[in-house]
Formats: sequence, C-alpha cells, structure tokens
Amino acid sequence: ATPLRLGIAGLGTVGGALARLVEAKRDALEKRAQRRIEIVAVSARDRMRERGFSTEGMAWHDDPVSLASHAEIDAYVELVGGSEGAALESVKAALNRGIPVITANKALLAHHGVQLAKLAAKKNSTILFEAAVAGGIPVIKTMREALAGNEVARVYGILNGTCNYILTRMEKEGLTFAECLAEAQRLGYAEADPTFDVGGFDAAHKLAILTSLAFGCEIDLDSIFIEGISNVAIEDIEAAAELGYRIKLLAVAQRTDTGIEQRVHPTMIPTKSALAQVDGVTNAVAIDSDLLGSILLAGPGAGGNATASAVLSDVMDLAIGSVTPTLGVAPANLTPYKRARMRAHEGGYYIRLS
Ligand code: NDP
Ligand code: HSE
Repeated sequence: ATPLRLGIAGLGTVGGALARLVEAKRDALEKRAQRRIEIVAVSARDRMRERGFSTEGMAWHDDPVSLASHAEIDAYVELVGGSEGAALESVKAALNRGIPVITANKALLAHHGVQLAKLAAKKNSTILFEAAVAGGIPVIKTMREALAGNEVARVYGILNGTCNYILTRMEKEGLTFAECLAEAQRLGYAEADPTFDVGGFDAAHKLAILTSLAFGCEIDLDSIFIEGISNVAIEDIEAAAELGYRIKLLAVAQRTDTGIEQRVHPTMIPTKSALAQVDGVTNAVAIDSDLLGSILLAGPGAGGNATASAVLSDVMDLAIGSVTPTLGVAPANLTPYKRARMRAHEGGYYIRLS
C-alpha cells in the first residue's frame, strides 16, 4: 500500500511529541494500518532548534501556509496554535486543495469551526480534531461514534489541565497561584498565552466544540458564560474544604426549556464525588444521555505524549480509512447563561468570586 504522507506544522510540545512517536512506533503503526506513516514535510519558526528527532529527509517550510500547499503531502497536521493567522490560513489552504486536516487547535475550531466545516464539506475533505478537547481522553470519538444513538441531556466536566493542576497544587501543597502556573507552563500544559487557561477561555473553546457534537448544533462561543480561576485564592479553597467541598473549574452544557445552556466557572463540588477526586493535569468529562444514563471519562488532559496520542488516533483513522464527517452544522438553539442566577450543579454550587 502507498504510505500516508504527513505535513506537520508546529513542532513544539505536541508536534514534537507526535514526530518522536511516529518515529518510535513506526513498525507498530505500519502493522496496524497496513501502510507506512511518513512525515515528509514540517514547519516551525526556528529551524535550528534541537527537537529530539531528526528532520533529515523532511522538507522544511518556514510558513505553515506553504507547508499546507506542499504537493507531496496527503494530510496536513496543524499544531501551531492560535485562532487566526498562520493556523487559520494554512488549514484553509489545505482544505481548499481537498486534503484532510488534523488539528489540536480548539481556539481555531471554536472561532471558525462552522466556516471550516462548510469548506471541508464543499471540498469533499474533512477535519479531525480528537486532540482539541480534553487532551488524550478520546471524547470526540466517543461522542461522535459510541454515543451516536443517544440523546444527550448534559455534558460537563474538567476541561482545562492547567487550571486543575493549579487548583490541586494550591490546595495540596499550599503553593501560590503564580508558582503553580509557572510549573504548568514548564511542563508544556499551558497555552502560549496562559490567560486562555486561567481566564476560562480554553475550557470554553472546548465546551463549544463538545456542545456542537453533543447536541448537533453549530458552535457558538459567544453564548458561553465564562469565568476563570484567576480570582480563586487559597482562602477560598480552604473555606470550601471546611464545608466539605473542593473548587474545580467546571464547563457545563445542558438542555434547558429554552435551549442549550453553556457555562464555564469555578464550582464547589462535594469532596466525595468522582469529579472532585480528579487531580492535577487530569481532565474528566461526564455525559448524561437517554440510553446510557451517566458515563465519566477521565485521563491526561494536556502534555506532549497525551495530546499526541489523540492526534495519532486521527492519523491512524486517515491511514486506515475510517473517517467520520466534520462538525455538525445544523442551526443552533443556544441560550445565554444568566450570571445572576445561583445554580445548583450535581450538588455543587456556582461560586461568585468577584
Ligand atoms: P507550542 O508553543 O509548544 O508549539 C507551537 C509550535 O508552532 C512551535 O514549534 C512553533 O515554532 C510553531 N509556530 C508558532 N507560530 C508559528 C508560525 N507563525 N509559523 C511557523 N511555526 C510556528 O504549542 P503546543 O504544542 O503546546 O500547542 C500546539 C497546539 O496544540 C495548540 O493549538 C494548542 O492549543 C493545542 N494543544 C496543546 C496541548 C498541550 O498540552 N500543550 C493539549 C491540547 C491541545 P518554534 O518551535 O520554532 O517556536
Ligand atoms: N492548555 C490546555 C490545558 C492544553 O491546560 O488543558 C490542553 O488542551
């Protein structure tokens, strides 16, 4: 069989891990897919940077748009980041020429997913994005494939590893917010601009994608109520603990009488509940549906190998030929969350910190 030839833009935490895994697992992947996976072209900013794998034999492009236009690639893997600029333009360039795109870029999908899904459909191409939500947890494939016959009532959980890492270490080790954030950055968990993490925006990007899949509606970032963890102090965590709660940044999307409500905010959760036990960079996604009742998926939510694992699952889907269509593009029926209302959630409570 002919090899699957990849062009990878972005060789940082995720792209670098992916390239190393493709090299290290070459034989096992070939055996499973019955064809070779080859990285034939790459792009990053600094050509001289040591990345722990050899780029010999790979065509180098300074510009991701030029890489996406590289004639010898069968699929374009976007691991640059950012909702505009090089990420957006290169993804559009790949779709316009009809080759599939794999991305971990939730910001891009949250802002432009509808437009990109339409472009992909028009060009008979596709966008795969398992890594865009909850890192290594296979939540996209679960939602699109395993739950395809279910009606979802609610999807909620811990969708940002950096925030959960910060809250956990503040509580368990008494470290400051700034110390924990710096460590999350060092470990490759945080976004290039960590405001996206601690401000709740990254969790909102992921929630927007999950909502689209869970309820079959268009992505609508603007209707999400967003509050991050920047104002959570150690005193808040201690006060919650005294009352038998832990504070987690929760993302929630649920059906209401007036439409789908989406929100991201710090939440007090009873200490004994499963979600409250989710510590560190681990993410967890709970899904309530008609046929299954409640399921909870948990696992590493950020980091090089965990995220590259999800990207690799999309690569393998392409190599094997089992690819589902892109995001739902049906009209949305989303309802803005009213901040003034104090909402009970799974016995946990929304706390207003400002
Ligand atoms: P990094 O910052 O570690 O890597 C970004 C890469 O993109 C670098 O190789 C950088 O080049 C390259 N790059 C940036 N801008 C340009 C540009 N204009 N032209 C060419 N190359 C460019 O990011 P991550 O690997 O952490 O994240 C990549 C994507 O994956 C993002 O969308 C992120 O949200 C997403 N993601 C990240 C996770 C994580 O745990 N880190 C988890 C899930 C998703 P150079 O190396 O030369 O600087
Ligand atoms: N910055 C993100 C997080 C990466 O901390 O969850 C994974 O999407």
